[in-house]
Amino acid sequence: MLVRAHYTPVISATGLYTPPHSITNEELVASFNLYVELYNAEHAGAIEAGEVLALTPSSVEFIEKASGIKARFVVDKAGILDPAIMAPRIPERPNDELSILAELAVRAARQALEQAGRDPAQVDAVICAASNMQRAYPAIAIEVQAALGCNPEGFAFDMNVACSSATFGIQTAADFVRAGHASSVLVVNPEICSGHLNFKDRDSHFIFGDVGTAVLIEAEDRVANQPHWEILGTKLKTQFSNNIRNNFGFLNHTAPEGIGAKDKLFVQEGRKVFKEVVPMVAALILEHMESLGLEATDLRRLWLHQANANMNRLIAGKVLSHEASEDESPTVLDTYANTSSAGSIIAFHKNCDDLKSGDTGLICSFGAGYSAGSVFVRKVG
Ligand code: COA
Repeated sequence: MLVRAHYTPVISATGLYTPPHSITNEELVASFNLYVELYNAEHAGAIEAGEVLALTPSSVEFIEKASGIKARFVVDKAGILDPAIMAPRIPERPNDELSILAELAVRAARQALEQAGRDPAQVDAVICAASNMQRAYPAIAIEVQAALGCNPEGFAFDMNVACSSATFGIQTAADFVRAGHASSVLVVNPEICSGHLNFKDRDSHFIFGDVGTAVLIEAEDRVANQPHWEILGTKLKTQFSNNIRNNFGFLNHTAPEGIGAKDKLFVQEGRKVFKEVVPMVAALILEHMESLGLEATDLRRLWLHQANANMNRLIAGKVLSHEASEDESPTVLDTYANTSSAGSIIAFHKNCDDLKSGDTGLICSFGAGYSAGSVFVRKVG
């Protein structure tokens, strides 16, 4: 078969924008426990009478042991740590200002474009692939396309596959390149996860952080002799589950009593997610490897979705057939926590430069839906 370089998709660069504020587990737990103390004091009578359940404090030790998370970056620290608010306070911007989600995406995208030495006008398409869009329309991706100054003849749109959005976006971008619809596609993953996290929920208040990432997918002939990542194959899978869910949406105002209810934020059955997603993801990766003729020994590194260190240890172990070292399966959970779709891209961005030409690795994301995506890449140059 004739291989035409202008239809062969590669990853030419990635970008990362990290918000300036970090919250340690110690800080988060101190504010949560103060909230618990105030709540229990306020409801002391009702608790005593058995009408209200007393809240239980959180613990730094539990969080680190159960998840591997030690800190998280956030857009607004003060609101989250204020026991009277327990949520980020991000002022609404006027319509003629760049929206905050687009800003995170633009910052990450600029870094990717700079790394590739590409002018924004050379970008034909922008896909904003993230787990929460801050409005219904116009698409965040179109705002990013305009803010960057991308090809005005191009196109942009938003897509949401929760934590798996980045790999679903990469496959979509690669397909556009293969089909000749675009030669250069930016996939951006702005994630303000603190905006949909219930900081009053002991089971999950520690899980998420905020970040922006970007991946530039281009036709091979665009990268010339520059180092890049050949995309060996992509594979996606979904299987419906209510175990990770967020009911926030445009119909909420039609049942006003539901606005502000806990289910309008992130809710999960963490134990079930853990048990059900690990085998699903391991099977997807192993099937994908087999279809590409890859063996475990061919894999130099895994850049897995960053939700839970124990989950990653189990998945990496099943894929590699041995306990993975930090070098083989790096985690960024200690500093970034779970950043939804951006996690595997942060892991890749921060841990790919040392690989040599010919080294093969896997970018893999998974999460709500359930959904999972695998992208096998090989370094060139
Ligand atoms: N501080 C102290 N203890 C806590 C706590 C906290 N913040 N939260 C829960 N606990 C307690 C529970 O009450 C429970 O106590 P018990 O044994 O006395 O009943 C114990 O810790 C275990 O709770 P459990 O919820 O079963 O913990 P876990 O080991 O399953 O870890 C998660 C919780 C969420 C870290 C883990 O299930 C997970 O990561 N799951 C996958 C999540 C995921 O990937 N989601 C996708 C998001 S996109």
